[in-house]
Amino acid sequence: MFAKAAAQDLVYRLFDVLPDDFRRQTLQLFAGGVRGLNVTVPHKQAAAELVNELTPRAARAQAVNTIAFFEDTTLLGDNTDGVGLVSDLERNLNLELADMRVLVLGAGGAVRGVLGPLMERELRELTIANRTPARAQKLAMEFSDVGAIAACSFSELAGPPYDLIINATSASLQGEVPALPYGLVGEKTVCYDMAYGRGHTPFTLWAKSQHPRRASKGWGMLIEQAAESFLLWRGIRPDTKPVLEALAHHG
Ligand code: ATR
Repeated sequence: MFAKAAAQDLVYRLFDVLPDDFRRQTLQLFAGGVRGLNVTVPHKQAAAELVNELTPRAARAQAVNTIAFFEDTTLLGDNTDGVGLVSDLERNLNLELADMRVLVLGAGGAVRGVLGPLMERELRELTIANRTPARAQKLAMEFSDVGAIAACSFSELAGPPYDLIINATSASLQGEVPALPYGLVGEKTVCYDMAYGRGHTPFTLWAKSQHPRRASKGWGMLIEQAAESFLLWRGIRPDTKPVLEALAHHG
């Protein structure tokens, strides 16, 4: 849809790649004429290691979701997840992030991309909770230069309710929800799942049962991060509104 709207001639395809084959297959794709890639779970950190150059935000994240291949054979790695998430929260959901108490669930590649851009918004508090708490603590340490980040296990979490809860675990892919205690969601809480699909995700379904202000899945983040990738590849930031509207019709 972006290519059509921006009159750009391109083919965008899906490649399912195993972790052990990621490096070889990716290099083969570029050798075969591919000019750009989006990279997703579980390859974002491997992609950061593969490229020759990182944008500052990708270097900060040590995770790459966008690769551009330039004429001079440079492979540039970028991370548009954070800016995509923040754009969706601010532009599409009209949230004012400053002064919010934010809880991020998960400590994998998806979280690496969003911590920097979230912390730039002068949140009141940011907590990372993860099934394996040591990974949350490691991330909080690694990003301590951007601000104080608390880290804990799910069972250590307690109220009062957060303003924003972002699910960045891959639990939804297995049809699961992180094992969260009660009291985290109040009537003013916005629950956001980075995962997406038709209908509810397991997390938005769980969130709805806690009566939040809003439970959203990650279509908007997907579209906004894709628009930023498109900008890197083609020098044009496409209008995301028509794509958001088209996807809304598909539930
Ligand atoms: P991604 O790039 O999507 O972040 P990842 O690096 O494999 O992928 O990280 C997956 C995240 O989802 C991790 O935080 C993982 O928790 P662990 O660090 O304990 O493995 C989390 N996760 C995956 N399945 C989960 C589940 N069923 N319940 C809770 N957390 C889960």
